[in-house]
Amino acid sequence: MPFENVLRNPEWWKSFFAKDRFSYDEIPDLSGKVCIVTGGTGGLGYATVVALAAHGAHVFLACRNRVKAEEAIERAQADILQLQFDFPNASYPPQKGFEQPYERYSRTGPRVEFLELDLADMSKAHFAAKDFLSRGLPLHILVNSAGVMLQEHDMSTDGYEHHFAINHLGHFVFTNALLDRMRESQPARIVIMSSMAHEIPASPKPIDFSNLRTSPPVQSHVLLYAQSRLANVLYARALARRVRHDRIFVNASHPGCTDQQVLKRMRASDSTCFNYFSKLWLRIAYPVRRGALTALFLATSPKVEEEGVDGRGIRGRYFTPIAYELQANLVTDDVDLQEKLWAYSEKAAQNNSKI
Ligand SMILES: NC(=O)c1ccc[n+]([C@@H]2O[C@H](COP(=O)([O-])OP(=O)(O)OC[C@H]3O[C@@H](n4cnc5c(N)ncnc54)[C@H](OP(=O)(O)O)[C@@H]3O)[C@@H](O)[C@H]2O)c1
Repeated sequence: MPFENVLRNPEWWKSFFAKDRFSYDEIPDLSGKVCIVTGGTGGLGYATVVALAAHGAHVFLACRNRVKAEEAIERAQADILQLQFDFPNASYPPQKGFEQPYERYSRTGPRVEFLELDLADMSKAHFAAKDFLSRGLPLHILVNSAGVMLQEHDMSTDGYEHHFAINHLGHFVFTNALLDRMRESQPARIVIMSSMAHEIPASPKPIDFSNLRTSPPVQSHVLLYAQSRLANVLYARALARRVRHDRIFVNASHPGCTDQQVLKRMRASDSTCFNYFSKLWLRIAYPVRRGALTALFLATSPKVEEEGVDGRGIRGRYFTPIAYELQANLVTDDVDLQEKLWAYSEKAAQNNSKI
């Protein structure tokens, strides 16, 4: 049954009533840190870019559209400098009473730059990583926030179902190409955005490998989305295992359902039933800024490096709002499935002659 794992899990029910485990005033000073946020033009990615840059990090907003990126960067800088948000520990704007505390930050204001990245094309994802590497900067924080959700059927440039291609394959190629730089820069964090929808796919075929290139698809777009989100958690766990001897902390996150996303879906749908459901959901949906908090916890909180098994840090775990660790879909414990996905994705990348 879909969502069986969560519905039967008392911890999931408790998470609704639990106190938030992270807040904006717990984000530490991030000066000297270099971060990449995919999909920072709007929604959760934008909120993440603003929070990281306001705390002194040099942030790359990685997305496919330069014009949108430049607008978002301008908006982010204005939002931060005009104190649109309440960040008690933020570096910006300089506060009265300090003589020279901002020497270590850029004099021109928060540092947010554009990095061109189209996740629907693996070779472009690969070259985006190369573009970043060529700048010779360290990389401390990577937040994979870009994604598509419940969109009409389409295939990626490489011929894969586009939820799987954008939400998983593009990020797989991009992240893996950045891994050595993150090793050199450790301690480092990787946050892989997933969704509670990853709970939907069940055995015996949680990921239908034989149909990832079939057009038109044999599954509904809800299942295709859910499958791509399951791939995110499986990938996070496989990657965390590969970097277990490094101080690279890889985790997956469900942001909660944000009001903006629901409103977007309502506008896009002409199903009466879906619209009623969305209106109901809107009553319990989060503001985007709150939705970004769980990923920000995983990206910045010192607890991520201090806690976990034997105090070796939180690795390969799945978090829901707000910063609440939960058992993910039980199929994500299946190491064979994690490795099957890894091998499939690696082969897909190798088959791309431009990489
Ligand atoms: N918000 C929620 O309720 C919710 C719940 C569960 C999971 N999630 C997941 O959390 C993530 C962020 O959600 P959100 O609400 O912030 O979504 P959003 O507002 O729709 O933003 C998605 C971002 O992904 C980018 N993107 C889409 N296709 C891309 C591609 N081919 N290459 C590069 N970037 C691409 C978009 O860029 P453009 O501006 O170019 O379109 C946009 O910046 C998504 O992965 C979403 O699926 C969200």
